[in-house]
Amino acid sequence: MAAASAPGKCILFGEHAVVYGQPAIAVAIEQRCEVRIEETTTKNWLIDGLNYLPEKHPHIEGLRNRLWFQGPSLKLNIISEVPAGSGLGSSAALSIALAAAMRAKKGRRVGDDGSWHEGYSSAIFQTDAYSPSQQETDPGNISVGGKKLFGFDAIDSDELGILGHAVEAASQGGRASPTDTAAVSLGGVVLVSDEREKSANWQYSRKLKTPEGERKWEVHKVSLPDSFAEVKLVIGDTGVHASTGDMVAGVAELLQKNPEKMREVEAIGNLVRRATIALKNGDLQAVGNAMTENHLLLRSLGVSHPKLEDLIQAAAPYSLGVKLTGAGGGGCMVALTTEPETVSQAIEMAGGTAYVSKLGADGVRLHE
Ligand code: MEV
Repeated sequence: MAAASAPGKCILFGEHAVVYGQPAIAVAIEQRCEVRIEETTTKNWLIDGLNYLPEKHPHIEGLRNRLWFQGPSLKLNIISEVPAGSGLGSSAALSIALAAAMRAKKGRRVGDDGSWHEGYSSAIFQTDAYSPSQQETDPGNISVGGKKLFGFDAIDSDELGILGHAVEAASQGGRASPTDTAAVSLGGVVLVSDEREKSANWQYSRKLKTPEGERKWEVHKVSLPDSFAEVKLVIGDTGVHASTGDMVAGVAELLQKNPEKMREVEAIGNLVRRATIALKNGDLQAVGNAMTENHLLLRSLGVSHPKLEDLIQAAAPYSLGVKLTGAGGGGCMVALTTEPETVSQAIEMAGGTAYVSKLGADGVRLHE
């Protein structure tokens, strides 16, 4: 048995635009998804006691092919506080937690010098997790004196991020930024940008061939100043589910039909650069204003929803800033506030479900 958990995520700035190489900022939230795996003698895989249907679970299937190819059948239990299909990274949290549990259980062969004999890493170019047919290469016999690492020692956040991003991209029609999977695996606050930012702590680069061309992202961690201890995020779930893949495809279609809308995408990028400075300076009101401005630009990309607008309107009077978060089309909004209880009540009165979180929780964790 192996068990791992990963947090949901909330995008503060830059969703959708980040798919086109603009910067984005996301935080890990306190709500988590835990996955337990156990080998079973049944022919079929089981999820929460039911037969596993690959077509219903593209992320799990993607990991099964890449990390558990021809391995024994598994029984999965998923306990999640992250609402599904709501823009809070439920699929990223599931993918990263499952990848961690699988790697911990399967182990990793390493050589005497600690070099990997199997696995996916930005330092190993011959293992392309992004290719749909890629399985982990069989390393054959390990060199004399080599060993196999299990559990925590086998886990690597770079590998989890690559695998998570690869299965997200595959299930989103080939268009996915690494924002969600980076926030969920690394935890804290992440800045994803088209260039390496000197003021942030660079972690790794990611490349992806999308239907619109190759994209490259630089992933960083950001530390927030102490003033952020005074504020919370209140997330309001509309209960309306929208598929991220469909929303991302909708924006791609809009941009194809109306190329001038690319100006909105670029405006979001400029705003995120300003917001990054405000974040680092601990200027809470400037951060809130930038969130509200970001919402208006997302609205003009057609990804808001009447229920999101209702919750945003209800939360706005008690918040520093409000916006939709994630793919939109339903899903969630987020408010930055010093009055989390009042904002939660306002959201619930307007028909939403409220979740409160600090900005930046722990990333993936192995439990057993
Ligand atoms: C979804 O949480 C965020 C989007 O920007 C898609 C992505 O970055 O892959 C809408």
